[in-house]
Amino acid sequence: MREGVKPGQLYKLTQYEKLGGEAGVRQLVTHFYHAMDSLADVKPIRDMHAVDLSQSEEKLFLFLSGWLGGPSLYIEKYGHPRLRARHLPFSIGVNERDQWLQCMDTALGKMNIERAMHDELMQAFFNTADFMRNKNE
Ligand code: HEM
Repeated sequence: MREGVKPGQLYKLTQYEKLGGEAGVRQLVTHFYHAMDSLADVKPIRDMHAVDLSQSEEKLFLFLSGWLGGPSLYIEKYGHPRLRARHLPFSIGVNERDQWLQCMDTALGKMNIERAMHDELMQAFFNTADFMRNKNE
């Protein structure tokens, strides 16, 4: 139970808590990069990343912790994410967006969560991934 919540007070769990807190978010990110590393369809975005994915994995974990309603670890360490600006060096269009989302859909499918939560998270990830598009097509 979150500090400061009085008995009987309405308290909604965050997505971070529903995923299982830090361990759950780490698990999600591990599944995500495993999917990126193994699904043939997403090779174009896999090739944009370094051979060793451990740095990407750590950064996505730090970012998602705050994005899902948990501790703002990325901001504490690196400041404002400026996510769109940080993705400008990579050419991102509809295909790249959909490949990223395919990895996340696969990763969420391996988590022990309800379908409604899976769909809600995919919608939120779609919005963020769509905002990252920077290619004229
Ligand atoms: C739309 C398709 C996307 C592509 C092709 C893509 C690709 C990349 C690449 C190549 C990097 C640099 C390598 C690395 O440091 O990991 C990166 C960094 C990152 N991406 Fe994405 N990404 C996409 C969407 C997203 C989305 C939707 C999120 C968040 C929900 C996200 C979060 C991050 C973060 C936190 C970093 C690390 C930034 C830093 O350097 O501090 N990306 N992405």
